[in-house]
Amino acid sequence: MLIIFVSMELLDGKIVSQAVKEDLTLKIMELQKSGNRIPHLAAILIGENGASETYIASKIKNCAEVGIKSSIVRFEENSSESTVIEAITKMNNDDDIDGILVQFPLPQQIDEQKIINLINPAKDVDGFHPINTGKLIQGIPTFIPATPYGIMLMLEHYNINTSGKHAVVIGRSNIVGRPMSILLSQNSPYGNCTVTVCHSRTINLKEICLQADIIVAALGQPGFLTGDMIKENAIVIDVGINKVKDEQKKSGFSIRGDVAFDEAAAKCSYITPVPGGVGLMTIAALLKNTYNAYLQRKQF
Ligand code: GUN
Repeated sequence: MLIIFVSMELLDGKIVSQAVKEDLTLKIMELQKSGNRIPHLAAILIGENGASETYIASKIKNCAEVGIKSSIVRFEENSSESTVIEAITKMNNDDDIDGILVQFPLPQQIDEQKIINLINPAKDVDGFHPINTGKLIQGIPTFIPATPYGIMLMLEHYNINTSGKHAVVIGRSNIVGRPMSILLSQNSPYGNCTVTVCHSRTINLKEICLQADIIVAALGQPGFLTGDMIKENAIVIDVGINKVKDEQKKSGFSIRGDVAFDEAAAKCSYITPVPGGVGLMTIAALLKNTYNAYLQRKQF
């Protein structure tokens, strides 16, 4: 009988996000010491989506931890598009605001793309504006959407050699899959991968995943990526944050990723846990984008 021991290492979002936040805390303390204004993130939350409430609360808490000022404007679920447009226009023109974040999803009467297009690209810390997406595609420095940016920071922290590797990204959203595929393929440190983007219409997904040196699972289906889809020693990045029923838990639910963790961990060389992986990095990356927005605006 042949027994193969794979030594798996955790890509620990707690450690890496803490390092990013400590660095930011020091930088912001320096700003304060020299009598400068501090960076300010302004958030807009519309309606009563439980997940959005949790995300926004966490973003605000993390801003406070590093010394970034934050503010939140809330609107009722049935608010009109013009009300939200008015609020964003005000934020665009407010010199004290460096970053604007409109939490998605939006109620159906509000056009997401219209809202994205309206945010001043210089304050677009989500990196969703078409101008910033265009810059990202052309390799021009810009705001990178927080989840892919957080994953790149993680690869950098653990000094993962990505050059020439086959990366499979499952998911093609503008928020995660698409920008992730661009970053992994670009000619830069922690890029230079050969990238395959898979999605709901992909045929032979299992065969494609089995060829991957790096898999990014960003499709939003709990436990989707199973051990039989993963090559020995692959690197597995789990973007999923799925709420699943769990009678063992007091709350009645637990958070699961898109990866069947135990099966994947037995095969791969590196893996991100859920929780404690990519989610924490998303917030750290948003804080970095807000600080960078501040620095760039300060020059003018
Ligand atoms: N909803 C889910 N992810 C995100 C994100 O990264 N930014 C915003 N604004 N909304 C989201």
